[in-house]
Amino acid sequence: MKTKKLSTQPYKGTRDFYPEDMRLRNWIFNTMRTTAQSFGYEEYDGPMLELFEMYAAKSGEELVNEQLYHFQDRGGRHVAIRPEMTPTVSRMVAARINTIPRPIRWFSIPNLWRYERPQKGRLREHWQFNVDVFGVDSVLADLEIIEIAIQIMLDLGGDFTDFRIHISNRKLLNDFMTRALELDESGKQAVCKTIDKKDKLQNDEFRRMLSQTGLTRDKIDSLIDFTRLDRAGLARHEMIATSGAVELESLFGKLKESELDRFCTLDLSIVRGLDYYTGTVFEMYDLHPDNRRALFGGGRYDNLVALFSNQPLSGVGFGMGDVTIQDFMITHQLIPVLPPPVEVFVALFDETCLGEVRDCARRIRRAGFRVIAQIEPVKLTKQYKFAHQKNIPVVVLQGPDERAGNTISLKQMISGEQKTVPESELNAAIRAWLRRM
Ligand code: HAM
Repeated sequence: MKTKKLSTQPYKGTRDFYPEDMRLRNWIFNTMRTTAQSFGYEEYDGPMLELFEMYAAKSGEELVNEQLYHFQDRGGRHVAIRPEMTPTVSRMVAARINTIPRPIRWFSIPNLWRYERPQKGRLREHWQFNVDVFGVDSVLADLEIIEIAIQIMLDLGGDFTDFRIHISNRKLLNDFMTRALELDESGKQAVCKTIDKKDKLQNDEFRRMLSQTGLTRDKIDSLIDFTRLDRAGLARHEMIATSGAVELESLFGKLKESELDRFCTLDLSIVRGLDYYTGTVFEMYDLHPDNRRALFGGGRYDNLVALFSNQPLSGVGFGMGDVTIQDFMITHQLIPVLPPPVEVFVALFDETCLGEVRDCARRIRRAGFRVIAQIEPVKLTKQYKFAHQKNIPVVVLQGPDERAGNTISLKQMISGEQKTVPESELNAAIRAWLRRM
């Protein structure tokens, strides 16, 4: 009886990473890793499963009610698959709050799960580069985090015409909503949620949704005018003396001193979807007309560690998703041509050479090359075809003639060039050829 074959498709909104996809993913994250390490940040990781209550506390209604994968484990605990890393890193920091020297500079590359409608830039499983610093209360930490975000974009090959960081401050928007819009906490949350969606809405739909939160027409106008202020406009606005505006001005001053201000712009419509942010918030935008969208974001959260510890500790950081970053790299033609994963193929002349082939491959590996040794005897033409299909640049062969003379033959697969060298010069010959490629 025929059994029905299972589907080869991965679960909706997730991806298989074939080796060529892994190579690109590793290149992107290793570039980010190197940048973060160059600023002295250290890598950490945590578990995929956390208690549900960790997200229920502060991650925000949309993430918790609509996007979280959660269930009861066999022991009756209510657990969730991590949708983001910030609660986990805050828990880990809180657990060692008295022993880790501060500031704490950490980064990680977790895979995260959110039940979202799969679409451009959004999947159900993604990998997210997280960079966070804990224990600095001033905007100088915000400055360092923004500098790292910019440096990563530059290290991926972007330049300042390709992206812009839009910066705002939660305290400022919050105070504006209290004073000018006279909103209570739930009203503010509803308005923030709507502003956060503005990129996806037409203007009249945006206004309609704001009116559904209870705002009058005048207040909607005043809110929209406020979110459109530039720095000069903010300087003339009555909110300029509030603590959020002072922080923003101070941050922009420091960005200018560090010559980073050309990568940044004030954008008071940035709120960020997560509830825990308390100060600076920012989103990185792609400037290309084909991909005008937010690439990643972050901000300051001064009371997340306090969920786990009696000692409060401020944090600031960002999360950068692999999906939007790859879209950015494709749009700007920044996907690199990566070096071949295998550099040398050691062909097998016949069954009598099995031992020699393995020895030879071992010697080449010891010199630092990545080497495949032919496993079983098959026709040489088939072996060369395999090396060609795998894009292996150099094939090495020792037949009876070469063996008799203690020499070895090499073939460069792209040019077809061949030569025979003494065994002792093999590694130098491979190195010279690979260097020329
Ligand atoms: P977030 O804005 O929810 O922030 O996510 C950060 C970034 O992760 C997004 O801008 C996007 O690049 C990527 N991302 C999020 N959801 C998806 C998805 N479903 N598919 C593909 N990419 C996605 C946070 O998660 C904060 N915890 C970041 C943070 C770290 N804040 C401070 N430190």
